[in-house]
Amino acid sequence: MPLDLPPAPVRQADSSDDLALVTDLVSRMTLAEKIGQLRQIDAAAAATEPAIIEAVRRGEVGSIINLVDFEQVRRMQAAARQDSRLGIPLLVARDVIHGFRTIFPIPLGQAASWNPDLVRTAARISALEAAAAGVNWTFSPMLDVSRDARWGRIAESFGEDPYLTALFGVAMVTGYQGDRLSAPGSIAACAKHFVGYGASEGGRDYNTTNIPTNELNNVYLPPFQAAVAAGAASVMSSFSDLDGVPATANKALLRGVLRDKWGFDGVLISDWNAIQELVVHGYSGTDREAALAAVQAGVDIEMNGPAYAGSLEALLDDGLIEMAQIDDMVRRVLALKLSLGLFEDGGDPPSPEVGSGADRLEVCRELARQSVVLLKNEHQILPLRRDNLTSIAVLGPLADAPAEQLGTWVFDGEPADSVTPLQALRDVAAGRFEVRFLPVLANSRDRDTSRLDEARALVMASDIALVCLGEDAILSGEAHSRARIDLPGAQRALLEAVRETGKPVIAIILAGRPLALTEILPLVDGLLFAWHPGTLAGPALADLLFGDASPSGRLPVTFPRSVGQIPIHYNRKNTGRPPTPDTVLLIDEIPADARQTSFGMTAFYLDDGHTPLFPFGFGLTYGEIAYGPVALSSDLLDRSASLTVTASVTNHGHHAATETAQLYVRDLVGSLTRPIRDLRGFRRVMLQPGETRQVSFQITAHDLAFHTAEGRLEAEDGLFDVWIGPDAESGTPARFRLQSRHRPT
Ligand code: GLC
Repeated sequence: MPLDLPPAPVRQADSSDDLALVTDLVSRMTLAEKIGQLRQIDAAAAATEPAIIEAVRRGEVGSIINLVDFEQVRRMQAAARQDSRLGIPLLVARDVIHGFRTIFPIPLGQAASWNPDLVRTAARISALEAAAAGVNWTFSPMLDVSRDARWGRIAESFGEDPYLTALFGVAMVTGYQGDRLSAPGSIAACAKHFVGYGASEGGRDYNTTNIPTNELNNVYLPPFQAAVAAGAASVMSSFSDLDGVPATANKALLRGVLRDKWGFDGVLISDWNAIQELVVHGYSGTDREAALAAVQAGVDIEMNGPAYAGSLEALLDDGLIEMAQIDDMVRRVLALKLSLGLFEDGGDPPSPEVGSGADRLEVCRELARQSVVLLKNEHQILPLRRDNLTSIAVLGPLADAPAEQLGTWVFDGEPADSVTPLQALRDVAAGRFEVRFLPVLANSRDRDTSRLDEARALVMASDIALVCLGEDAILSGEAHSRARIDLPGAQRALLEAVRETGKPVIAIILAGRPLALTEILPLVDGLLFAWHPGTLAGPALADLLFGDASPSGRLPVTFPRSVGQIPIHYNRKNTGRPPTPDTVLLIDEIPADARQTSFGMTAFYLDDGHTPLFPFGFGLTYGEIAYGPVALSSDLLDRSASLTVTASVTNHGHHAATETAQLYVRDLVGSLTRPIRDLRGFRRVMLQPGETRQVSFQITAHDLAFHTAEGRLEAEDGLFDVWIGPDAESGTPARFRLQSRHRPT
């Protein structure tokens, strides 16, 4: 999965004087001070601040997580710089996952924008806000390709596609790190969780993963390779075991791939206590064995665990590890601190106010708008017109839930900053029409149906029902997997009650994962899927509801008809018996006397078929978009040349629209079976009513390359199909042949 990446920013700490400084420091450090640099402690759970400061003064701590008070950081850094023997400053880490104080949509929602530039800007704002609080290291971006909606952490991912995940990972890395890590407002990024965590069996968090080499090389590793190439300052090892070897002890991956093959020389940190958990996995017998395995694998810093501090000295004394290994680990940590400018005078965080608040909120609102996916718009019920409304009934547990709309992994965002859908609708109404509100349910899990009659009555007395449903923030994120992915609680009953009124119904769903919407789709006329949109969920949704902006979001992940279809993703293999419309006979169509071979023997479910409810890349706009046929500049692609692929895109509707035209390729025959489609590009195209634009892409052999069984990244001669279309299922492909230039014999 190749990707043309921006040149990696020059890593600052490799200049000769920096290296001299690091080498000199290491030569003067005691073993205890070296081990201190390899420890990260949790300020939120550790002893009191004086106890931490004492440990810092003794050189026993190299980095701290969950320290976000500007003055407290200043005191800690002063203790490190002025009071410790060698004055080595601290790394101050925080999970800034989708915003610090200004909360942007969850990463899965950001991915739905298909706008890496905007995501980079949001990451930049997040870095400015975090740096102003003294944070200099974030544990983001999460690059785990996620194909299982049951997994709670799909919320933190960029979805199911390696190409899209890589693009957004690079956008976040460059947004956080800026052009220079030592510049005010830049913070170190951390590509996590290396690797394959998204393949946790059954979508159950922390579960085992078994990933064949082909999938590892062509799906799970590429986003990390892109982030490393883009200059990610650090990588985090995953909790999960991979084919029986926990990632945190996986020498083949951490040393063999990450360091030796990709040349990554940044800091590798374990996930939370993941070194000691090697014992729980049953991979190491003791903390000491676990520490040895992690050192051999190349883990530099232990996040919040006892193994390194408790065992490294003994491992050295027993000759099981060399001082040179410890020195290498310490050197990488010091090099990161140098890159961040922490040794420089005034290496303190920038003034708390870096950049104005107004532009941050505008970016927050814009990214929230672009993350929302319009899934249904029956009879063009949307956009609403303010002037022909007298009243709206706003219902549902997520209409006015300031904390829930922020989503998972929010530590420093303030629900008080949130503007909810209800508040925004009241602002828009401003006396022109009435907004009547009834939550009906206390939260998304509430099963109490005692207020459904009240809900019906409110809708009957109003022009239209706007129902805000979905998942509370707690239902996704780490350790929050679900075995069923329907609307929780009595939310479906609420929709059914509202539907009985016969009034127009618009549903807005806020959730941290794809939900199984099959049963509720007939109950609504309009459906906006908003993920968890963050601080300005309300204004962004109001902009879309009233047409001040047109929905442009596209699904970065497949929406299954039911949880039973999982795993389901667009870039699947053809199999030897692919289902086709005439080989699929669903359960209600099976004749009464059907016998074993009564209909097609192909790969589908008798009850839910083989197609998703909504495919990857799907999203409606307020326009009526049509694609012309795919045209090729040639049906032969020489390896040294490029091929131009073009299609027209027309808006036959009455509203302007931003359409995301997607480029997919298929390698028809490969030395490994290849996916039936692979995303290789996209263009966001603004189209006025009636406007037609030509969308073009250049394809080269590089775009067709994949990691072969021999581990080479190469494109193989042969036939390829190519699409330009609105999602991963639509369109008719054009066909071309890739050929090596045949030299005359
Ligand atoms: C958590 C997560 C990881 C996070 C770290 C620090 O358990 O797995 O993504 O960055 O611990 O909070």
